[in-house]
Amino acid sequence: MSHSIGVIISSVRQPRICPQIADFVVETIQTSSSGAAAGRSKPTLKKIDLANWTLPFTGEPGIPAHIKDPSEYSHDSTREWSKEISSHDAFIFVSPQYNWGYPAALKNAIDHLYNEWVGKPAMIVTYGGYGGNKCAAQLESVLNGLRMKPATGHVELPYPGREWAAAKAFKGADLELDAKSAGSLWAEHRPTIVAVFEEVVKLLAEPSGSSN
Ligand SMILES: Cc1cc2nc3c(=O)[nH]c(=O)nc-3n(C[C@H](O)[C@H](O)[C@H](O)COP(=O)(O)O)c2cc1C
Repeated sequence: MSHSIGVIISSVRQPRICPQIADFVVETIQTSSSGAAAGRSKPTLKKIDLANWTLPFTGEPGIPAHIKDPSEYSHDSTREWSKEISSHDAFIFVSPQYNWGYPAALKNAIDHLYNEWVGKPAMIVTYGGYGGNKCAAQLESVLNGLRMKPATGHVELPYPGREWAAAKAFKGADLELDAKSAGSLWAEHRPTIVAVFEEVVKLLAEPSGSSN
């Protein structure tokens, strides 16, 4: 049976570039001719856009780690979110760096649940002026706190320069990313995307309970 990997689009602001970057990552993996990305039982990738989820900040009275069954959640929206996250075996978090961290919307979405995340492999893809390495470090720490299995490799996509950022990223403009063109922005990061994805696939094959 093939695994399902949820690709979390972590920016909910308008305008935003996050969906384009998630598409680039998914297409890079899906068009890769190497390893598990091309194998017969390759995992299914499903995008999960946080902008489509209403998860109120003060929504749940319980401690997520103490919830043993989704029926214990107080809100239908949390039960739906629990069902979504439970339906995937691993995750790719695609996130901008905001003030050296990751978006509040992502932390809120993570903190609504606990047991749904535990033990699942994760891949971190960040972007920003310097690739979002500070965001990646914070997110990795949180995922370890959730007893997830984050891949040791990260994908960090740096902006080509300040003028580019002002004209494109900050305005949510079309970045013209192309997962198949050698001339595309971030084409040189495609091997890293595939390599970190392969690490996630290997983590999926580990018996549950083993952790890095
Ligand atoms: C609240 C906020 C904080 C930001 N902080 C950073 C930062 O620390 N480093 C950086 O390189 N860019 C930073 N930026 C610029 C973002 O990289 C840029 O706005 C990008 O488009 C955000 O991704 P998004 O459009 O998908 O939301 C920040 C943007 C916002 C809105």
